[in-house]
Amino acid sequence: GLALATLLASPVLAQSGMTVGFSQVGSESGWRAAETSVTREEAKKRGIDLKFADAQQKQENQIKAIRSFVAQGVDAILLAPVVATGWDQVLEEAKDADIPVVLLDRNIETKDDSLYLTAVTSDQVHEGKVAGDYLVGQVGSKPCKVVELQGTTGSSPAIARKKGFEEAIAGKSNITLARSQTGDFTRTKGKEVMESFIKAENGGKDICAVYAHNDDMAVGAIQAIKEAGLKPGTDIMVVSIDAVPDIFQAMANGEANATVELTPNMAGPAFDALEAYKKDGKEPPKWIQTESKLYTQADDPKGVMEAKKGMGY
Ligand code: AHR
Repeated sequence: GLALATLLASPVLAQSGMTVGFSQVGSESGWRAAETSVTREEAKKRGIDLKFADAQQKQENQIKAIRSFVAQGVDAILLAPVVATGWDQVLEEAKDADIPVVLLDRNIETKDDSLYLTAVTSDQVHEGKVAGDYLVGQVGSKPCKVVELQGTTGSSPAIARKKGFEEAIAGKSNITLARSQTGDFTRTKGKEVMESFIKAENGGKDICAVYAHNDDMAVGAIQAIKEAGLKPGTDIMVVSIDAVPDIFQAMANGEANATVELTPNMAGPAFDALEAYKKDGKEPPKWIQTESKLYTQADDPKGVMEAKKGMGY
């Protein structure tokens, strides 16, 4: 009796009543964990019944999850696609069942963009460009050997962040991208790969900067640099993407130089679009773009770190 009364009295639960399946990549990074918790919170606020499936980095698990959401007859699906290709068939199945799919934080490659309702993502090429432009500005005319830690192979952010960075350094003959390898968006692999870069580059003395496709790999790289007896942030510059609290701590310590912010709140705009679509048939734009703001050591890293707590972190 009491439970039902609370339910009926709750203004939020009355709002939506949608059931939404969420196929999440995994929990490879601090940013990813924050996105998951923000999505859960946003769903709760709106009275959305969220069915969560962690794919543990495997596309086959995501395909299974989508099929199971379709079989359950959910009202909509959120998909954070681990890699960019290979989605057409399963998305056609969702489309045939009249279930709209919203892409979260990563893009897919398809000839048929009617297979998804909208994509809530940043401009990932631009993120790489912002990181690269920052580095170009810091380096000036000095010779600079850069090493790159790429995200998950085949994922849209790994492809695009590489491209944007290369655009930024194109034509700067003093800056060379000496080594580039995947660190799979994780701290552990970021550290491992950075150790191998350091070994191959005169104990790290020949490396001028590391560009990491996410902060977690940068944090791993910082550890590797310290263990090699060098100073991250000064001997080797550290530039990355995400803006998680740990990188602000590193910036406050002078051990990281800059990061490009990616909001973990992709679900808010996604649910807004879905609610408008379900209620009034309002078609959202095909791309809902989130911001990409640069933060450096000059931007009160401690203060930003504090402010980030409670935003999914
Ligand atoms: O798709 C967004 C990327 O995925 C984040 O930058 C990274 O931390 C995550 O793993």
